[in-house]
Amino acid sequence: MSSGANAVSVDNKTTIRRFTVPDFRARKRREPIVMLTAYTARMAELLDAHCDALLVGDSLAQAIYGLPSTVPVTLDMMIAHGQAVVRGSKKTMVIIDMPFGSYEASQEQAFFSASRVLKETGADAVKLEGGVAMAPTVAFLTSRGIPVMGHIGLTPQAVNVLGGYSARGKDDAERARIMTDAKAIDQAGAFSIVIEGVVESLAIDITQKINCPTIGIGGSNQCDGQVLVVDDMLGMFERTAKFVRKFDQLSARIDSAVSSYAAAVRSREFPGAENTYRT
Ligand code: KIV
Repeated sequence: MSSGANAVSVDNKTTIRRFTVPDFRARKRREPIVMLTAYTARMAELLDAHCDALLVGDSLAQAIYGLPSTVPVTLDMMIAHGQAVVRGSKKTMVIIDMPFGSYEASQEQAFFSASRVLKETGADAVKLEGGVAMAPTVAFLTSRGIPVMGHIGLTPQAVNVLGGYSARGKDDAERARIMTDAKAIDQAGAFSIVIEGVVESLAIDITQKINCPTIGIGGSNQCDGQVLVVDDMLGMFERTAKFVRKFDQLSARIDSAVSSYAAAVRSREFPGAENTYRT
């Protein structure tokens, strides 16, 4: 993280402040924005030193709750995890996903849901999925004080329409539609747009043609920043999308640690003298 943006000196005392929407916008075509998902206070605490922004993604459906898709996620679930992530972090901007069904019906429904998210969690911004159809809603929210991050390309909440999670923008017609979506959300006032699961040349083209910073996940290293689901990049799951790089193999390490614990309990080697109270 560029500490300069987050350290404020007043009366010779340095205080830490969160990464803001203007900080985000200022990174366009400059230093890449580092973003990961987080769902719990302790994970937020661990990620805070290294990231510019944390996304409380509705991917908590699969990562935390073992649900088959993000469709069943509720506003109350997002608010509970959002509160935990805000509590655990100090410097990062916290962005919370608006879950399926909480914003699509009308601009008023979107404002009611988004204002609940910001009031009840203390987060900095919301994210919502969709292109041209959602642009008036993005304009409605931003003009009323709610910073919005867009999300285009592969939009997991639309899985029942898209029929799966395959990459987007492979033919000219779809490529043109996604470009139109990007421009509409940018012009509506989104402070950033996540581009998920599109062919690389399209992610680059969008990044060059819109004003706000793009955040890639299965996009391109030429996007203005990157995001991954934290459990994916830590290696908690065997099967992941092509765009995930596993920076660790936590599931194997947990397996080994828990196997050692089970053996120590069964042999009565644990608890040892150092773990028991003496008079
Ligand atoms: O829910 C989520 O984690 C997301 C990211 C994958 C961008 O929307």
